[in-house]
Amino acid sequence: MSRRSRGALLPPVPASQPRRADVYLALRNAMLQGLLAPGERMPSSRKAAADYGVSRGLLEEVYSQLVEEGLLERILGRGTFIAGQVAGPTSTARVGKAPYPELSASTRGIKLAGNLACRVAQEFKPFNAGVADTAEFPWPIWQRIQTRAARDLKRADMNFTDPRGLPALRSSLAHHLAQLRGVRCTAEQVIIFNSIQQAMYLLALLLTNPGDATWMEDPAYPGARAALELAGSAIVPIPVDREGLQVEVGLQRAPNARLAYVTPSHQFPTGVALSMERRIALLDWAKKHDAWVLEDDYDGEFGYVGQPVTPLHSLDQHARVLYLGTLSKSMFVSLRLAFAVVPEAMVEQLANIRTQLDAFSAPLIQLAMSRFMDEGHFSTHVRRMRGVYAEKCAFLAEGLAPLANCGWTWEVNTVGVQLMLRHPDALEVQRTVKASGLALHSLNSYRHTPADDDGLLLRFGGLSIPAIRSGVERLVSAARASHR
Ligand SMILES: Cc1ncc(COP(=O)(O)O)c(C=O)c1O
Repeated sequence: MSRRSRGALLPPVPASQPRRADVYLALRNAMLQGLLAPGERMPSSRKAAADYGVSRGLLEEVYSQLVEEGLLERILGRGTFIAGQVAGPTSTARVGKAPYPELSASTRGIKLAGNLACRVAQEFKPFNAGVADTAEFPWPIWQRIQTRAARDLKRADMNFTDPRGLPALRSSLAHHLAQLRGVRCTAEQVIIFNSIQQAMYLLALLLTNPGDATWMEDPAYPGARAALELAGSAIVPIPVDREGLQVEVGLQRAPNARLAYVTPSHQFPTGVALSMERRIALLDWAKKHDAWVLEDDYDGEFGYVGQPVTPLHSLDQHARVLYLGTLSKSMFVSLRLAFAVVPEAMVEQLANIRTQLDAFSAPLIQLAMSRFMDEGHFSTHVRRMRGVYAEKCAFLAEGLAPLANCGWTWEVNTVGVQLMLRHPDALEVQRTVKASGLALHSLNSYRHTPADDDGLLLRFGGLSIPAIRSGVERLVSAARASHR
């Protein structure tokens, strides 16, 4: 502990007008329990007396007694310190109290707490790393920009900031969206969130009543399903085939749904793109039924193999599409920045709801992100990462080639950070490879309604080429063995 510190914060005393014994015991216990650590500086007796609301004389007596007992040490001209030999337990655990009673969560709470689908592994293995490759991220540039942003942030930004997001970032994003994704919007239509999940939760709160039907891709991104369920939506699973969401099934099952959630450019997790015919049918349905389409363009920056797929937003003539984007894949996931493009009036409503939850996203990160974009680093990084992921994807596909003869198929429509490998035996292979240190999710684990057509999701974005190589070798030998 630094000897230059202005003095430790003192432990509370139980009495409002403490006596000498109260102060003595509070300090002594804190030292013996390790809450005031050896070497830590005590406030001067004058300050401590003021803190406790006692006379300076009383405090001097307590300090002297603790010095005599060897718990405090006074160094002439420097101050009073916790003595080096005080080595109490450093645990901050609750002591001398009855244990907490058995948890009595609500039925809703128990159900929510039991849903582990969004609890992501922090240790990466082949193939559980559907994240950005942080080894390729330009850290020195980001650190420099963040330091500059911290310096330039105004004192006013240390108070409550705009719940719609920093104007600078909203305008950088509007520019970036037009340039990179062909999404045309004004900065006033952009609203900043911490994540797509948060955006979806707030949108569902705004646009639906509890129990209103929402079309959801089946299989789907568990985070999206969870966010909509949290907001009280009644999920109507709509199967996905090679052309994406089967709009005609939605029309049969819940024509009056209020919302439809889709990942049209690169369906999560199957990887297919929503066909033009289905896009038109979906937009048509939304217009006729006064419903909203939530377009999750989570990895739209990463380009395509063959014909580019433009976002649904650009096709939409009747303003029924609410566009959602994230910086989790193009930057890194712990940045916690995402955004929505919605009508201006909806920005205000969402901002009002957000203030009832967590107010706004951290301005420092927003400012740094805006500068990273405006100075051109973002487009340089995305362009470079397209190449990095394309290389990883090609490497993975090459390693998987032997499986093509045993009936395994895979979809490579975009260069993203994951690939779906399909085969009816997927579950068995998943079980076998677990022992050899691979972590795979089956297609069925993303499904609402399990089906025979199973698969394995290979999330490779955050893995190095050697990790992909060793993973794919283990996977291919396990898959081949299951065919013998
Ligand atoms: C389909 C889809 N949407 C959104 C996200 C995550 O976005 P965010 O981190 O902004 O919630 C993911 C992450 O894997 C995803 O797969």
